[in-house]
Amino acid sequence: MPTVPRAPGARIAANLAAIRVLRELSETGHAATPEQQRTLGAWSSWGAVPQVFDESNPTYVAQQEQLRGLLSDTEWDAASRTTINAHYTDPTFAAAMWSGLADLGFTGGTVLEPGCGSGTFIGLAPEGARMTGVELDPVTAAIAGHLYPQATVVAESFATTRTPAGTYDAVIGNVPFANVTLTDPVHNQARHVMHNHFILKSLALTKPGGTVAVLTSRYTMDAQNPAARRAIAEQAVLLGAVRLPNGAHQRTAGTQVITDLLVLRKRDGTGSAADLDWERAEPADLGEGSLRINTYFQQRPQQVLGAMSYDAGRYDSGDLRVTATGEVAPALEHAVRRIVTGARAAGLTHHPRDLTDAERGVAALTGAQVDRFVGHLAHSGGQFTRRTAAGVDEVLEVPRTQQGELPGCWGCGTGSWRCWRPRPPTLTTPPSWWRSAASLPPATTPTSRCTGRCNGSPSGAPGASIPTPVPRSWPRSARR
Ligand SMILES: C[S@@+](CC[C@H](N)C(=O)[O-])C[C@H]1O[C@@H](n2cnc3c(N)ncnc32)[C@H](O)[C@@H]1O
Repeated sequence: MPTVPRAPGARIAANLAAIRVLRELSETGHAATPEQQRTLGAWSSWGAVPQVFDESNPTYVAQQEQLRGLLSDTEWDAASRTTINAHYTDPTFAAAMWSGLADLGFTGGTVLEPGCGSGTFIGLAPEGARMTGVELDPVTAAIAGHLYPQATVVAESFATTRTPAGTYDAVIGNVPFANVTLTDPVHNQARHVMHNHFILKSLALTKPGGTVAVLTSRYTMDAQNPAARRAIAEQAVLLGAVRLPNGAHQRTAGTQVITDLLVLRKRDGTGSAADLDWERAEPADLGEGSLRINTYFQQRPQQVLGAMSYDAGRYDSGDLRVTATGEVAPALEHAVRRIVTGARAAGLTHHPRDLTDAERGVAALTGAQVDRFVGHLAHSGGQFTRRTAAGVDEVLEVPRTQQGELPGCWGCGTGSWRCWRPRPPTLTTPPSWWRSAASLPPATTPTSRCTGRCNGSPSGAPGASIPTPVPRSWPRSARR
């Protein structure tokens, strides 16, 4: 793999050269020559050099003008947005992750890299891996496509990716981190922050028994609120985690952020509950102060590639510092090997299998069916169903006395599929069928409003309000 320059000016120059090559390629329609691929391979996006978008910074005025001349307004906006999380992975770390996947039993199959950048993991994929990358920034996605023509690179937000559940054998990568929430009615109803959303969606798209190995923000593990970890644990067994020190990503990505590698195995019905000790992040005494650290790392200091300490300097509340005690890449390889050894001992190696018909349900989540959200109630052929978080429509028992009334209440048109989103009842003990219908993922805020994606809506108007069905036996105050 080509090495990217480190100094900001050289990085910017390499990026500009890559965009020029990209322009030539799109004008000629030719595939990139090896020489052009070398230039494209030095692309490192803008995460390490956000200053090029700072119009008040005189240092890079000339480069900024060149960039303006090379990008359309839309591309400029997309490029400036990459500054928050386009930090590429050191190839030696990516290689250690691939080698862990192979040791777990991966010998080939479909693999997703969500937020693929220019394709660090695609470039290091072993023979037999059929790679798909999803990348938001169109320029970066085009570069990845020219660098790895054998891979499928999709230029879109992963939040809008509509791939059926259980498609991939494995997922590998370094997800984008940000304290923002992306709208994804299929895979992020609970409104998790971006990095956790990416992990949860990656798991949903992975086959049972498949592996998800991703670098993520340390806050996936250390956030006080365990909601995301619980949601991850519902879908997967944590085979192990490794905490990388500050500075691990400085050379390649120009960031001091602390990251964690999580190695997860998608549940296939055989997982044990023994992995639940990673749900809590509890105060740890770090000398000058105390910070919440996941109990997994408190109990397994060997999985932290450095010494953890309290850094009072940067924020009022203090911050974690992890000081490397040696070379990171070989330490990462060792830590990954420990995870593999544990997984083998527990019989939790990489064994992806296709979803069963029952798991797939009557309709998998396909692009044509994304109007069925988690929690959707539907009525077809005399049967009521509810869409679960796994994308399956499970049969819902509705008392006979309410079977006639319920579809009428939905008022969502005359098509055979109708949608309704439950809202919490004001009663303390709602009927059991309602509780079943309303048992959405924990952090979901149910709403009585149709989102406008109702099949068969007579007006087709977005946001049409759908009355909540209220059984006649409920007190008057509960009817709205
Ligand atoms: C941390 S970088 C990792 C890049 C690459 N996977 C690697 O490891 O070198 C995250 C990447 O995700 C991309 N990204 C950010 N938001 C995204 C979104 N909503 N959908 C898809 N990609 C996104 C960024 O542009 C960036 O390229």
